[in-house]
Amino acid sequence: MTQAHSAVSVIATKRDGAALDDEQIDWVVDAFTRGVVADEQMSALAMAILLRGMNRRELARWTAAMIASGQRMDFTDLPRPTVDKHSTGGVGDKITLPLAPLVAACGAAVPQLSGRGLGHTGGTLDKLESIPGWQADISATRMRAALADPAIGAVICAAGADLAPADKRLYALRDVTGTVESVPLIASSIMSKKIAEGTGALVLDVKVGSGAFMKDLGDAAELAAAMVELGTDAGVHTVALLTAMDTPLGRTAGNALEVAESIEVLAGGGPSDVVELTVALAREMVAQAGIRDIDPAQVLAGGRAMDHWRAMIAAQGGDPAAPLPRARHTETVVAAESGVLTRLDALAVGLAAWRLGAGRARQGDPVQYGAGVEMHRKPGESVERGQPLFTVHTDTDSAIPAAVEALRTGYEIGTVAPPAGPLIIDRIGG
Ligand code: URA
Repeated sequence: MTQAHSAVSVIATKRDGAALDDEQIDWVVDAFTRGVVADEQMSALAMAILLRGMNRRELARWTAAMIASGQRMDFTDLPRPTVDKHSTGGVGDKITLPLAPLVAACGAAVPQLSGRGLGHTGGTLDKLESIPGWQADISATRMRAALADPAIGAVICAAGADLAPADKRLYALRDVTGTVESVPLIASSIMSKKIAEGTGALVLDVKVGSGAFMKDLGDAAELAAAMVELGTDAGVHTVALLTAMDTPLGRTAGNALEVAESIEVLAGGGPSDVVELTVALAREMVAQAGIRDIDPAQVLAGGRAMDHWRAMIAAQGGDPAAPLPRARHTETVVAAESGVLTRLDALAVGLAAWRLGAGRARQGDPVQYGAGVEMHRKPGESVERGQPLFTVHTDTDSAIPAAVEALRTGYEIGTVAPPAGPLIIDRIGG
């Protein structure tokens, strides 16, 4: 690197609104990974990127540099096509749990590297860790063996430390410097990990609404388009669905509660919105993987997805038949009046579940597996005075009043059912 690419000059270039050249991007990401660029310098650059944006070339180069900071996995020798999905995160979003085994049952291999939750949206690994014995950290050899096994075909596990390490460090800085909400930084963060993971195809579930990162449809569409472009340019067949996250998905928010609901879906039941989104994403994944003439809805109804679920859980040390943890305390909130539930706010439910112990405030905090919120009514459903609206679950009974208060601000009972908006709002790419 030349003196001209000192961190200060890279920051100043972006601060003043110019585009970074390829050499500047490669240098700054590599130097940050090596500890040559300090955290405060990278934080300043992140803020400049948030304020000034990036053009398409810069974004592609930045993403490539993040991938090059670590190792890239390669599954091209597997006998089946690989396909993964990524959700930008929402309340009650347990879709990965039934989806991964369903798509495996349709004949694809699903290498799903997931994360733990932070804040009001739960993490897939936290949910699965509520299953006795289940392990998130498995070796690359075990991962490959599970993907190659036609009776399993899906792995949901933690990303290794060498997968896009620059993103891990940068994300931790963004989290504490107000620089998360930037389309180029989110797109490059998500896509660097997904491309490095070695999947051949990818379906993105970009959430829009009160419980999502992106509250606004225009921002969500911009993020989805940026990620689809990055995936496509990297040779990964990529498509995005924009899906509603104003109200929680399903009837549960919380780790073991969501696992139980996912098992209901695999058994052929479960809430209709969870089933609808699982099947819609599975159809997209199967199509992106190039598998024809298989309808995931029929595979789900036939019970084969449940067989793959059991095999997948057992392959990672879990006991699929073991009872799930239950919280020590529950309290039910009842309706003060009769009518129709007209609003149930995803963010309010997410915050309540978090206060009950289902989520964490800081990285590394423990979570309560049994904690969360059960929703007895969803928008559009009738309720009589005195009938249950929610049951809260927690091991910390002192957390109940604040959680109930969060819920009370998040729902309304009226006389006319609200118009049911679509769950799947739009589709980008493909
Ligand atoms: N998820 C990520 O992995 N990165 C972001 O920047 C935002 C959400």
